[in-house]
Amino acid sequence: MTELPIRPKDRFLVFGAPAIEEPEIAEVVASLRSGWLGTGPKVAQFERDFAAYTGAPHAAAVNSCTAALHLSILAAGLRPGDEVITTALTFCATVNAIIHAGATPVLADIDPVTMNIDPQRVAERITDRTRALLPVHLAGRACDMEALEGLAGKHQLKLIEDCAHAIETEYRGRRAGTFGDFGCFSFYVTKNIVTGEGGMVVTRREEDVARIKILALHGMSKDAWKRFGDDGYKHYQVVEAGFKYNMMDLQAAIGLHQLKRIEPYWRRRQEIWRHYNDAFAGWPIGLPAAPEPGTRHALHLYTILVDPQKAGLDRDAFLDAMTAQNIGVGVHYLSVPEHPYYQQTFGWRPEDFPNAMRIGRQTVSLPLSAKMSDEDADDVIRAVRRVLGCG
Ligand SMILES: Cc1ncc(COP(=O)(O)O)c(C=O)c1O
Repeated sequence: MTELPIRPKDRFLVFGAPAIEEPEIAEVVASLRSGWLGTGPKVAQFERDFAAYTGAPHAAAVNSCTAALHLSILAAGLRPGDEVITTALTFCATVNAIIHAGATPVLADIDPVTMNIDPQRVAERITDRTRALLPVHLAGRACDMEALEGLAGKHQLKLIEDCAHAIETEYRGRRAGTFGDFGCFSFYVTKNIVTGEGGMVVTRREEDVARIKILALHGMSKDAWKRFGDDGYKHYQVVEAGFKYNMMDLQAAIGLHQLKRIEPYWRRRQEIWRHYNDAFAGWPIGLPAAPEPGTRHALHLYTILVDPQKAGLDRDAFLDAMTAQNIGVGVHYLSVPEHPYYQQTFGWRPEDFPNAMRIGRQTVSLPLSAKMSDEDADDVIRAVRRVLGCG
């Protein structure tokens, strides 16, 4: 007789399912009823609240972190031929944003323990065409910002942080996203707080936030979103060829309430994280390294490493087996040079970034969300135990 899966199919544990509560549902309904669905006062409020949370002087809401990255690179003044150094282990959006901005991506390998960009490898890649560094705080773990700030200062490089995983991340008392010129955040459905799709840029300089807001709304002059407000129609001027990257009030309606719960959500993920750590101790899988002293990990992704030599099965077999137990899993990420577009366009080969290649081929993200119950977390543990055949 075949064994029943750990969870029934109709209770498939969706990877990264967000906690959505009544206040955001009511706020979305209120937006729908108000007739003002697009960019408006709720977006402006969300920008103020988010800036206050991070401690950044300015914030501009956009419709994704990809848009946030694209606009930040443009606002940083990069030109075709300029090189931007980023990590070999990230989501394709990080690299694509550099390409869309007309700059040239250059990859650096990661540190095998932190899985973040290795400043030593960055230093080796700096040329006289390098104009910016684009570190990613992977899984919510802070990059080595002292070293990266040092390199940026020494070589006069712009520093743009990809904080898609890192809203709550801190490094020596400073918030992720506030080190460099721009910090870019995501509120995609699986992120620590969500707006469905959504993103935010934080920055220190008023001229940068003003430029980003203009670029995000077709290149129309300041405050063009107000043109349909009760102050009466206002003409706008198109001052450059911008993009359609603005956030809607419908999205901000969700984000406003999610942001209020960011700390209890973090504490809930911390409980699950600790529960996993305790349960998996001594099992034949790699566990996330402890956070570095003086940092706060955003606990966005709980990633394990499945090394076939130790686990007795390879990563992809592990993914299939977890899915068969009706537990959703993720991969963050195959290394960037594994993808054919980048191989063909830039000649990148996975072997040239050995740490990112190995981790990209072994990593599995287990469900970690504030929505999860204790029973959900126990089901994940039981499924991992069954798949590995341990305990
Ligand atoms: C590291 C990283 N950067 C950028 C992005 C892009 O975020 P968005 O989906 O909001 O465009 C993601 C999304 O998953 C990501 O994980």
